Amino acid sequence: MGKQRFEAGRFFLKDTIRQQIDFSQTGQALHKPAPALQQICDLALARIVLPSGKEALNRLATMPVSAAIASRESVRNYSGASLTLEELSALLWAVQGVRRVVGPTTALRTVPSAGARHSFETYLAIDRVEALEPGVYRYLPFEHVLVLMRSDGDIGSKAGEACLRQGCVTKAAVSLFWTTVPNRMEWRYDLAAHKVIAVDAGHVGQNLYLAAAAMGLGVCTIAAYYQDKCDLLLGVDGEEEFTVYIAAVGKKKNI
Ligand SMILES: Cc1cc2nc3c(=O)[nH]c(=O)nc-3n(C[C@H](O)[C@H](O)[C@H](O)COP(=O)(O)O)c2cc1C
Repeated sequence: MGKQRFEAGRFFLKDTIRQQIDFSQTGQALHKPAPALQQICDLALARIVLPSGKEALNRLATMPVSAAIASRESVRNYSGASLTLEELSALLWAVQGVRRVVGPTTALRTVPSAGARHSFETYLAIDRVEALEPGVYRYLPFEHVLVLMRSDGDIGSKAGEACLRQGCVTKAAVSLFWTTVPNRMEWRYDLAAHKVIAVDAGHVGQNLYLAAAAMGLGVCTIAAYYQDKCDLLLGVDGEEEFTVYIAAVGKKKNI
């Protein structure tokens, strides 16, 4: 009984599944159209052009990468101060920025991804970012712009509520929510897609921690959340796109 409880989870972590997949039957092998690199976005929504993320991180980083690695930690207490647009731009570039578009079905980013399939979309619950009204936003990495999905003056408490009322999310200047569009990975890897989606999320989190450490910002990544509440908050369907990982970000409190 004991071991059986963990069977599905342990199986998910193993690569045994790959031996059971008929790779002649994947979406890619069957010449089904490759999933879009980015979810469709309503062109009528307001767009905020971000300053260059790479230049912003270059300018704002106060330490070499060795010091960022050594000092990275989870920070859950934030001051009431706002992030600047430049700081936010640097963080977004670090977590999902596009390095190079290789072709219509492939792009390379600042984080690695199995088969360069990059299944994530990035949403933001913004409470305090200079010049931005509070609300739910989406980051479009190919254009490096933010899109205002919905204004919401109470976004901090709603985001916190969706994350088991964790105080760091409620008090964050901005919380990042990563959804996965699993079909992007399933199209190539079929049943082996889901483990690598989870592995991919770790790289996103670590790039965020390192960029934030370099700029003196506080971050705590979050994997404990209400699935349905987060999906509802972001306006995703919970099946073809759903929340997998979250991070609270803010200016560190002087303690
Ligand atoms: C996948 C993952 C999920 C996490 N989920 C939460 C969470 O829901 N709430 C929280 O307060 N911290 C969360 N954390 C932060 C960890 O608690 C933290 O990394 C750990 O205590 C080690 O501390 P450090 O990051 O300062 O080294 C998570 C970290 C990871 C990598």
